[in-house]
Amino acid sequence: MDLFIDTANLDDIREISRWGILRGATTNPTLLSRESGDYNMILQEICGLVGGPVSAEVLADDAEGMVAEAEQLAGLHDSIVIKLPTTAEGLQAAGELKRRQIKTNVTLVFSANQALMAATAGATYVSPFVGRLDDIGHDSGEILADIVDIFSVNKISTKVIAASIRHPLHVTQAALLGCDIATIPPQVFRKMLKHPLTDIGIKLFKQDWEKKQKKQTEKQALDVGL
Ligand code: G3P
Repeated sequence: MDLFIDTANLDDIREISRWGILRGATTNPTLLSRESGDYNMILQEICGLVGGPVSAEVLADDAEGMVAEAEQLAGLHDSIVIKLPTTAEGLQAAGELKRRQIKTNVTLVFSANQALMAATAGATYVSPFVGRLDDIGHDSGEILADIVDIFSVNKISTKVIAASIRHPLHVTQAALLGCDIATIPPQVFRKMLKHPLTDIGIKLFKQDWEKKQKKQTEKQALDVGL
């Protein structure tokens, strides 16, 4: 499973891209609205930092407007993927953008049938929102599993991005279910990396090494004294 970063914050992307694990990024209007500066330039910088697909979302409600926005966004960088909502107009736009060879990520997916329709319309990626499903008491794992199975059984090449990830267990779940990608907020990446036993282990290794060095130095001093 590939790991994407779900943010528009350049400092966070710079930090985590140095780990060498990022294969792409996803943004949305909420994430971009938290940043200051020119949105087009931010998107271009993200493309340069992650070196993989970067999703940028349209705001129009109608297919024609979505396609026009998509053309502008796709012109920013070769890595841009157009995020479209799961609506009738979004599906129509996905088909049209496929004909224009522009990649799409159909977002705000909350059911297996929505994912199936988005894939059939021509989406390159679909993004089921696991955190928001859990928020309303649905079993996001079950819905994610259904989507992965339906795509596999029906030989659908559209990739599944587990989105709206809220904690490390969501990432483990997505990987176990066979999702192609999980798009992960920076704070969840940091939690995934951190383990108290790793920190304790590093401390112990250092302590033992220093103890040994100290003993050797003391022995050398004694030998010289003799
Ligand atoms: O990738 C979609 C994501 O940004 C939505 O996350 O936490 O707002 O549900 P959240």
